[in-house]
Amino acid sequence: MISGLHHYALEVPDLAVAEGFLQDFGLETGEKDGSLVAQCPGRDQEQVRLVQAPAKRLHHICFTVRPGALDSVRGSLERAATAIIEPPPGATESGLWIRDPDGTAVQLLEMEPAPARPAAQVLVNVGGSRQRIGVAQWQQATQDVMPRRLGHSLLFTAQPQQMTDFYTQVLGLRVSDRIRGLVTFLNAGPGDHHIFGFISSSHPGFHHASFEVPSIDAIALGADRMHARGRPAGWGLGRHTIGSNFFHYNPDPWGSWIEWFSDIDQIDDRWVARDWDVPPHLWGTPPPDTFLANREPAG
Ligand SMILES: [Fe+2]
Repeated sequence: MISGLHHYALEVPDLAVAEGFLQDFGLETGEKDGSLVAQCPGRDQEQVRLVQAPAKRLHHICFTVRPGALDSVRGSLERAATAIIEPPPGATESGLWIRDPDGTAVQLLEMEPAPARPAAQVLVNVGGSRQRIGVAQWQQATQDVMPRRLGHSLLFTAQPQQMTDFYTQVLGLRVSDRIRGLVTFLNAGPGDHHIFGFISSSHPGFHHASFEVPSIDAIALGADRMHARGRPAGWGLGRHTIGSNFFHYNPDPWGSWIEWFSDIDQIDDRWVARDWDVPPHLWGTPPPDTFLANREPAG
């Protein structure tokens, strides 16, 4: 039923600080329906909404549902005794609003996701491929480095099994893979290995959101840009184990994380989920100690 991740929304204590951070990350900011939103250059879909509040915390998460599927979503919610709620203050009224088992507000929009900004093919001379002849890559690599689309978000939860049951049995996501006892990755069918997931913690919270950029160069150039603008160091460059994407994370001003990714595994309907005992990175430095800190207020 859920076909993709549409946007996420955070409550933040200072909208100007949030706006500057997201601009440095590579998003365009603006006003929509009276609130601050951030979009990927060249994509007509808000990816982040920001709501002014005393402390930073997750405000809501929004998914797309295939056109025509909202009735079956309503039926599924009814069978699960999940109530339709009023939109939380600061959100739009579109679509259907519910709360997940952690109490997080979830918006379901019946629409096709907007297409991501087109990206040129990245020609490589790696492995057995010799695709780039007579072209100086260093002159190409800086051409298109900004985020193209929001890919996934991971939330903290104290009840990963209940959350997984809700999002799979009621809303139609599927488990992609798990890091045993720590992380559950979920997919929305053929496409990205994961669009959503959970990290085990003492209480709910927002861990990170991740945006696709056109190349591994774009990830490293983005990290350089954040460094040049005085942003604190993050984690990366590396290649993940589960999902296999190249990554670099930066901490946001409130102790959550934002990620650029490239080259994530694409799955099909035959994908079989497994449990793994692996670190999150295949190579690169290990994550900083603060990486799994859940700084959102409990309760
Ligand atoms: Fe990620």
